[in-house]
Amino acid sequence: MILKYIYREMVEVLREAGVDLPDLDARIIIEERCDYDWSDIIAKGESLDVDSDICQQMRQDVTKRINGRPISRIYNKREFWGLKFSLSENTLDPRPDTELIIELALQRFSGDYFPKHILDLGTGSGCILISLLSEFLDSHGVGTDLSSGALDMARYNAQQNGCGKRVSFIHGSWWNALESDHTVSCAANETAHKVQQKFDLIVSNPPYIANRVIEKLAPEVKNHDPILSLDGGVDGLDAYKIIFPRLKMHLSRCGIALLEIGYDQENDVMRLSEEYGFALRTVHNDLAGNPRVVEISCGDK
Ligand SMILES: C[S@@+](CC[C@H](N)C(=O)[O-])C[C@H]1O[C@@H](n2cnc3c(N)ncnc32)[C@H](O)[C@@H]1O
Repeated sequence: MILKYIYREMVEVLREAGVDLPDLDARIIIEERCDYDWSDIIAKGESLDVDSDICQQMRQDVTKRINGRPISRIYNKREFWGLKFSLSENTLDPRPDTELIIELALQRFSGDYFPKHILDLGTGSGCILISLLSEFLDSHGVGTDLSSGALDMARYNAQQNGCGKRVSFIHGSWWNALESDHTVSCAANETAHKVQQKFDLIVSNPPYIANRVIEKLAPEVKNHDPILSLDGGVDGLDAYKIIFPRLKMHLSRCGIALLEIGYDQENDVMRLSEEYGFALRTVHNDLAGNPRVVEISCGDK
């Protein structure tokens, strides 16, 4: 079958089913299943042929999509900050809004002034930490998570994106992962070493959905993202209430923290940061104009 026609057919079926971005999803399905780049498809248009097995697979993918499975969960892949990440049922599907953390880090650090040690609390697929390490080539990172399945994925993604030797992943709950008296082995030299305790940049996108809201989330989210990556407790603030009390202890003197927040959590998180003695704090909005990232530095009260 001519690729152009199957593309049109897929867009039509996806659109009729009410899928948000039918053209984009059809394009990703084609790029995944066929050996063509989108530029080939644009350039050669009518002449590209697809054999019937592949057409069949693509139609099956469309059916999965209209039954509520996000494209990223069909192929277990997601692009973030221009890098490719593999996903599993243990990892959150990284969101484009989270890229704001990388943008802000690049504004704060540049040239010779770079964050030597970076910590990512609740690293999931590793998307934030690995993207930062792809920009700061002399930095070293530590990623933690309570999900060992997520950490396996993060390790794999770090290797695939060429920074496996500059990163350690540690299993444990928030600060406990760092503070328990253990050593980690880093692929760099395969020797065990003490876990870094002070960081120039601490990032986190913790679970921040209030648990009563989880049931109301879109099926694409509540049926596919792991509950551990969403559930922020009764008021959505559980993780921040654990992170703030020990944040200062783990920030180096000129260090900064960039924490993702929910659109309605600005006041609560600012209150927490004030309570724990952070005088310098700013809230940054995402492209939709919603508060998204709180930036905190160690200026004492
Ligand atoms: C919203 S997801 C963010 C994942 C990834 N950083 C991203 O932005 O795509 C939150 C992450 O925190 C992890 N997490 C949940 N509870 C945790 C805990 N008590 N200690 C450490 N990590 C936890 C989850 O497993 C999940 O990977």
